[in-house]
Amino acid sequence: MTAAHDDDGGREVGVGPHPLPWPDDPRLDPDLLAEGDRRNVLDRYRYWRREAVVSDLDARRHPFHVAIENWQHDMNIGAVVRNANAFLAAEVHIVGRRRWNRRGAMVTDRYQHVRHHEDLATFAAWASGAELPVIGIDLLPGSRPLYAAELPVRCVLLFGQEGPGLSEAAQSACDQVLHIPQFGSTRSINAGVASGIAMYEWVRRHGPEAAP
Ligand SMILES: C[S@@+](CC[C@H](N)C(=O)[O-])C[C@H]1O[C@@H](n2cnc3c(N)ncnc32)[C@H](O)[C@@H]1O
Repeated sequence: MTAAHDDDGGREVGVGPHPLPWPDDPRLDPDLLAEGDRRNVLDRYRYWRREAVVSDLDARRHPFHVAIENWQHDMNIGAVVRNANAFLAAEVHIVGRRRWNRRGAMVTDRYQHVRHHEDLATFAAWASGAELPVIGIDLLPGSRPLYAAELPVRCVLLFGQEGPGLSEAAQSACDQVLHIPQFGSTRSINAGVASGIAMYEWVRRHGPEAAP
């Protein structure tokens, strides 16, 4: 297989057409084999059909979910989805407006299960039906530091919006609210960054490497 390069410095961004004969593997996509694969995926997924990648990820997804409120088309949602893909969350839940800015997701949403909920009541009913505690992640009066709190194996991590943070309705839906301690002058970090830290913390405690 030949490595492909971008045009601004020769950095490898994928692979070119696969040399003949092609491997006999139903996971492989004939179009990608013929034209090359320049997607933002791990090398082990090169030339794989999208459905084959999703099914491989599905077999080992972590049991935590991620949710974010979407009332103002927050630019952070794409980063949350990308982080959910990187840390292998079971599913991402968009609460509020259906449309969200996909730019920051860098196409990772193609490999991630994303579910929409009209409002907090619908989201809370789903979480309750799935027996998943809702863990609000925000720096609020009364919130506890993430590092010191119990983080259930099965849970939903709920994030708020850039301006208002977790809405009143979202706070009411939470079983507990945890914060990431800060030390500077800013009131908050952005939801994309906060989601990466919280998901990393879940994986650090419960991921495969954490197993005894
Ligand atoms: C920019 S913040 C919201 C604004 C913030 N409530 C304020 O008082 O300015 C957007 C979201 O990022 C997450 N977030 C930001 N900083 C955080 C922190 N230190 N700990 C936990 N979550 C945080 C929360 O989910 C929050 O709702």
